Amino acid sequence: MTLELKLIGYPIKHSLSPWIQNSFLDRTGTDGSYTLHEIADVLTFEEEMKKLREAKVNGFNVTVPYKQTIIPFLDRLDITAEQIGAVNTVSLEGEEWVGYNTDGIGYVQALRDKFPERMKDTNVQILILGAGGAARGIFHALFHEDYKDLTLANRTKAKGEDIVEGTSASVITLKEAERNIDRYDVIIQTTSVGMNEAKQIIDLTDLKEGTIVSDIVYQPLVTQFLKQAQEKGGHVHYGHTMLLYQAQKAFEIWSNKKVNIEGMDEELRTRIKGDK
Ligand code: ATR
Repeated sequence: MTLELKLIGYPIKHSLSPWIQNSFLDRTGTDGSYTLHEIADVLTFEEEMKKLREAKVNGFNVTVPYKQTIIPFLDRLDITAEQIGAVNTVSLEGEEWVGYNTDGIGYVQALRDKFPERMKDTNVQILILGAGGAARGIFHALFHEDYKDLTLANRTKAKGEDIVEGTSASVITLKEAERNIDRYDVIIQTTSVGMNEAKQIIDLTDLKEGTIVSDIVYQPLVTQFLKQAQEKGGHVHYGHTMLLYQAQKAFEIWSNKKVNIEGMDEELRTRIKGDK
């Protein structure tokens, strides 16, 4: 089997996905390559999709800002991508391009692998902060894994309500979340607040000791949000693991192989810190 794989998005020059996916190819003894296909201008998107079709690439990842732009170019969406309304993985199946979204399920897998005992209990009280694309994916994945006590907090409540519609999850404001922070066992920060800046979405002064606190931001690796969580005795979960696990799920779709990611977490951390 030879897999020709790509990443589309903009900007992607510093993406760690090529390192991750090329390691997966190596680790599974699969021939092929994973390379960047930068699309700087959305006006050329259609033309670029034609090129990828003609090249018969086996699959590609889609990142910012094209996770929704890609949808009309696909032949089919799997159920998760359809529910989330965004695609991060495309696979050539026969003549068809099929769209998937592995962000949410990747994230939940990462959390379960890091905290197997705590996450075994589907009655844990989970708070999701934010209501963007990442929140939608994570919410759906948790909901489908049968976690029963989900609360979503967002600056704009209506956006949160749109995500939880048809479920028993509740939506609160960020202030309410902050005031009642000690109610939660797992807190997941899903917005870009804290990325390359010393800001945090809510204050964690009243955090309950032992709470799992996760931030999907991995630039910096230890965000201000996670720093405060650590000071308050929380168990922190870093955002780069989401990157690794969504990649693992994408690779599984393309290759039908489950890749062993042992040791990659630490190496990815080093690369994010810029030591390599
Ligand atoms: P996306 O996930 O869609 O790519 P994002 O900017 O990473 O986009 O995240 C959007 C989410 O971050 C939204 O929930 C947004 O809140 P609103 O729905 O109220 O717009 C939230 N967000 C972004 N900046 C924020 C800030 N400074 N304070 C609080 N929430 C913020």
